[in-house]
Amino acid sequence: MNASPPRSRSASSSAAGLQIIPTGAALGADVQGVDLRRLSGDAFAAIHRAWLDHLVLRFRGQQLTDEDLIAFSRRFGALDCAPVQETGRRFVEGHPEIYVVSNVLVDGVPIGSLGAGEAVWHTDMSYQEDPPKASMLYALEVPPAGGNTYFCNMYRAYEALPEGLRQRIAGLTLKHDGTYNSGGYVRQGVTAQDDPLTSPGVYHPLVPRHPETGKCVLYLGRRRNAHLGGLPLAESEALLDELWSYATRDEVVWHTEWQVGDVVLWDNRCTMHRRDPFDAQARRILHRTQIKGETRPEA
Ligand code: OGA
Ligand code: MN
Repeated sequence: MNASPPRSRSASSSAAGLQIIPTGAALGADVQGVDLRRLSGDAFAAIHRAWLDHLVLRFRGQQLTDEDLIAFSRRFGALDCAPVQETGRRFVEGHPEIYVVSNVLVDGVPIGSLGAGEAVWHTDMSYQEDPPKASMLYALEVPPAGGNTYFCNMYRAYEALPEGLRQRIAGLTLKHDGTYNSGGYVRQGVTAQDDPLTSPGVYHPLVPRHPETGKCVLYLGRRRNAHLGGLPLAESEALLDELWSYATRDEVVWHTEWQVGDVVLWDNRCTMHRRDPFDAQARRILHRTQIKGETRPEA
């Protein structure tokens, strides 16, 4: 078993002049002293290292256009196009990479996805053969309360499993559902259905190795319509419930309360996230990019 990276609670500064300040929780760090529109190669290298070490990075007080957000995102790799919006629309004219997360209606039509309800635990777009390795959200408007986003550390979730359970799941694959998004909305072009054996989706290894850190993660993706390959449904459901009980315990979770100008970058290969609901009358607008994974999840 590989241990989690040592994580000091104190700030570290790099030659690049920025500070990495770990949250003290199981994951997450603030990066201070940086303008993401102007980033030296050294600063980017320090950010990349910190992202692998802390899984989620938060940069406060940024002022980005969509072009700036795309340019910073591209430093990590090529971008995935955003999934089509729940209304069937693509999001931002001229920027197919930008996914709008918003409850705001214009002429009665949502400008983005996920509404104002809860978004349940998930990792982004893992119903694809090659899921994005990272996602980045930039906050343009936030509600006065609610809408907080939670992240969990799936290295830690794997390490927390009892040895017997780890042996039971060795070599298994898991179906990641492509029917519903995390807000419970049916994806574009798909028919609603709740049979995990027949729903659309992709099987990935349940315990892949992170391609950059080499460490094992528990890769659960999302609970709805999940199925452990080859197992009868009842057995699969029981084992999944047991695994999920380790994945989202308080000790592996950190959450952020959004401020306008926040950029939050996470690693989809070793975290999941969820969002609290908020007042539907309040406005919340975030723009997201998703960075392609270079490799498929592999055990
Ligand atoms: C996402 C997502 C949560 C939020 O953009 O992938 O899950 O906080 N968003 O709105
Ligand atoms: Mn998401």
